[in-house]
Amino acid sequence: MTLVDPGDPAELAASVRSAFADRYGEPPTSIGRAPGRVNLIGEHTDYNGGLVLPVALPHATYAAARPREDEVVRVASLQEDQPWEGSLDRIGPGSVEGWAGYAVGVLWALREAGHDLTGVDLLVDSRVPLGAGLSSSAALECAVGVALLDLLGAGTDDLVAAGIRAETEVVGAPTGGMDQTVAVRGVEGAALLIDLESGETTPVPLDLAGHTLLVTDTRVAHELTDGGYGSRRADCEEAARQLGVATLRAATLEAVEALADDRVRRRARHVVTEIQRVRDTVAALAADDWDAVGPIFDASHRSMRTDFEISCPELDCAVAVAVQAGAVAARMTGGGFGGSSVAVVPDERVEAVMRAVDAAFVLEGFRSPLHLRAVPSAGAGVVPG
Ligand code: GLA
Repeated sequence: MTLVDPGDPAELAASVRSAFADRYGEPPTSIGRAPGRVNLIGEHTDYNGGLVLPVALPHATYAAARPREDEVVRVASLQEDQPWEGSLDRIGPGSVEGWAGYAVGVLWALREAGHDLTGVDLLVDSRVPLGAGLSSSAALECAVGVALLDLLGAGTDDLVAAGIRAETEVVGAPTGGMDQTVAVRGVEGAALLIDLESGETTPVPLDLAGHTLLVTDTRVAHELTDGGYGSRRADCEEAARQLGVATLRAATLEAVEALADDRVRRRARHVVTEIQRVRDTVAALAADDWDAVGPIFDASHRSMRTDFEISCPELDCAVAVAVQAGAVAARMTGGGFGGSSVAVVPDERVEAVMRAVDAAFVLEGFRSPLHLRAVPSAGAGVVPG
């Protein structure tokens, strides 16, 4: 059974500081930290002007930075073999391959927003599992962004938008903005209700009352640039076009059910019903009624499996077994096609649920999963010291 430890922020910051000094010969002048996230509910609703309800994880990415006097940009990661080196004028949409695009894309986007950044040395370290549907990419963007803004003594007002531009324009992943928003604005002890139409964010206090939010990473790696995500988004936009609305936020279920094309209709049905499930979840949480969350998560998972078609056997197994072993609610979370599930588990059943899922994965011949305790945590910030 593997439980991923988020580590102690002060210790992780000290270790990235010393790795930076070893690599570049001088200590960093700033260290930024930004969390991964698990979305409680509201999947593929963000780019439809909808509602989402993510939680910032205690698992975070740490970025150490030191400004340079020239235009050179160097970035390395303790999780990646290949460092990246280039000059400021080489960074832009489509110009940086691989993981480094998320990091230096933020530098580009902050400069586009008018921040006077020069060359910089960067080193990152992360406790967010990669490709697990837990927004390691937004954590990377926002950790780097926090460190860069701190070098200028600037606040983080432009950070969410810069992270989104790095991901959508520099990397080219057509994502919807939930991840960067919660990575920056996440609140300790709460989920964050984000209204992507108005841009409003509202913390929803989570009284876990003897429950644990248990995340299971199936270790089926998902990619948001490989077509499945983009084709779902295109179907949603097509549905909105046919319905004559700006986004599916404005569509009624009745109108959606009358769409002629079966696939487009099912995609839109998922989005419209999922937005309502976010509202229902918020109402259940306001009443501290975790039992009411069970059927809502169940309906969400079924909608993603059959209407939106983004689940996979490993996710279906993790969700079903968690519920059999005592979770009060469980569903797949994140972009889909692999990644993680999230379950609400009475504290005394957490071990049993992890063991049952592990055993089922062995039986099915799946890779061993990883588990994380999603203690609701704060968004991005500078790590002092
Ligand atoms: C990914 C994207 C988000 C969102 C989710 C699905 O995490 O980055 O913008 O669309 O998938 O809810």
